[in-house]
Amino acid sequence: RVFNVAAEQSLLLAEALGPEESPKAYEDGRLVKDTYQWWCSGFFPGVLWQIYEYTGEEQFKTLAERETAKVEPIKYVTDHHDVGFQINCCFGHQYRLTGDEHALDVLRTAAHSLTGEFTEVVGCIKSWPFVKEGFSWVYPVIIDNMMNLELLMVVGNMDDDMYLRHVAISHADKTMENHFRDDYTCCHLVDYVPETGEVSKKITVQGLADSSAWARGQAWALYGYTMMYQMTGDRKYLHHAQNIGDMIISRLPDDGIPYWDFNDPKIPDTYRDASAAAVMASAYIALDQVADNGKEYMTVAQKQIRTLASKEYLAEPGEIGGFILKHSVGNLPENVEIDVPLPYADYYFLEALLRINKML
Ligand code: GLY
Repeated sequence: RVFNVAAEQSLLLAEALGPEESPKAYEDGRLVKDTYQWWCSGFFPGVLWQIYEYTGEEQFKTLAERETAKVEPIKYVTDHHDVGFQINCCFGHQYRLTGDEHALDVLRTAAHSLTGEFTEVVGCIKSWPFVKEGFSWVYPVIIDNMMNLELLMVVGNMDDDMYLRHVAISHADKTMENHFRDDYTCCHLVDYVPETGEVSKKITVQGLADSSAWARGQAWALYGYTMMYQMTGDRKYLHHAQNIGDMIISRLPDDGIPYWDFNDPKIPDTYRDASAAAVMASAYIALDQVADNGKEYMTVAQKQIRTLASKEYLAEPGEIGGFILKHSVGNLPENVEIDVPLPYADYYFLEALLRINKML
């Protein structure tokens, strides 16, 4: 049922895009677009690859190739961590599903580019080359960066490249040390002193407060450490993912869809974040496969998926500009993308469904 909706919606969305455009959101009744440079440029092509994977229909392969090709220039970007999201979420599927050698070359180039802002002193990849207005930082590392390590591990494992694996493992270890609190919630951004590797501050940019648990940040953490366990077999990542997963379960509302920040005092009169739920659901399914108490993780994932597939969240054919899910939050503190469809919600929702489908 969801893939039928996804297929119909994605044809609509693909039709609305010019040769250099990528979908960003659907706000105030209109489709918001950007270029390959926006951090989300890999998700819509990734949605198309996943629809192709499920349906086997050639038209989705053709569209996926068209949309994926738009993202290729990002493979040379060396000062921004999102190259991992952008390239792995489309060229990763292209290589996996078609064996295309050019896609593999792109993955390799991008993985090496992603190490461009890694330093041994800090032991992490610097996430952003800019400072946002109202903030000051020197070497920002955001929890989202855990997701970009997948590109390093995919290529590192495939090519037996010790350096790529070293960068990913070092980043994951340092993040485990410095981003997390005693209750396994994490902050959004840790700023490091580049000369010494010391932590200078722990703050939020997209969450409610420096001390709060921004829902998508917790989702990136859950997904990131589950992925690192799958990629390395190191049980410390599994334990960490389980601790994060248990913490999230203890704080989720009954229908499984988190509010945008777990600490918002306005709960339940505030926004849900479908994107965080979709990322969590996909991660819980993966965690279920490897964890000792896996059953609980699958139960939560199924609940999240069923809620996302309900009328409340799933698009009716033809609405919301061709996106699949409603009710995500991009950046509430900056008053941007609040309660809107976003491409990463759709991407991880389909990924979660495919993961379940592969188990049947
Ligand atoms: N990586 C940016 C976000 O999660 O909004």
